[in-house]
Amino acid sequence: MKGKFITFEGPEGSGKSTVIKAVEAALKQNNMDVIATREPGGINISEQIRDVILDVENTNMDKRTEALLYAAARRQHIIEKIWPALEKGQNVICDRFIDSSLAYQGYGRKLGLDTVLTVNQFAIEGCMPDLTIFIDLPPSIGLNRVFDNNRNVDRLDLESIEFHNRVYEGYKELVKQFPNRIKVIDGTKPIEAVIEDALSLILSLK
Ligand code: TYD
Repeated sequence: MKGKFITFEGPEGSGKSTVIKAVEAALKQNNMDVIATREPGGINISEQIRDVILDVENTNMDKRTEALLYAAARRQHIIEKIWPALEKGQNVICDRFIDSSLAYQGYGRKLGLDTVLTVNQFAIEGCMPDLTIFIDLPPSIGLNRVFDNNRNVDRLDLESIEFHNRVYEGYKELVKQFPNRIKVIDGTKPIEAVIEDALSLILSLK
């Protein structure tokens, strides 16, 4: 049987990586065959593309170039890692996927949802998640967490608050458009509660 494809989405500082690590460990303890990966990246070619996209020196990158690079990284990731794992029956958890492009490039960069969706449909060939968990956190709180934690700050973290507000609005719109696939978790709750909510969503997946 094919494995399930689960993606996590959320604004900067929403705690996605911490939640994914904990969820992966808990699922493995439950004897679930699961791998965790991330975008942009996950495999060598896509990690190289990631370095180009997120390099703080690349201030002159055109927004369509940016959208194409994310889609290209996604394509290679699917081919080399996501599809082979799903075919083997493994469940795949991915930190960000198509909805990041729809929210960041579609809304944040104002390329439009339909344009970014079209580019991505070419890249993913129908590889849509079975479940997407959106960790809902207002950008003002998330960005404060990023800068307070002295985390590695990348080119997109440095965008204006208006940009991040548009991304957040984009996510809210996606939740409305895809209510069956995208489930929302309150990211202002303590991290343990967020982990528990994510786990119960995944375990209820049929
Ligand atoms: P990531 O490393 O996941 O950062 P974070 O820890 O903030 O989640 O992602 C890097 C950045 O790339 C992040 O600002 C979101 C952005 N991004 C897009 O703009 N479009 C995309 O399609 C993806 C996958 C990420």
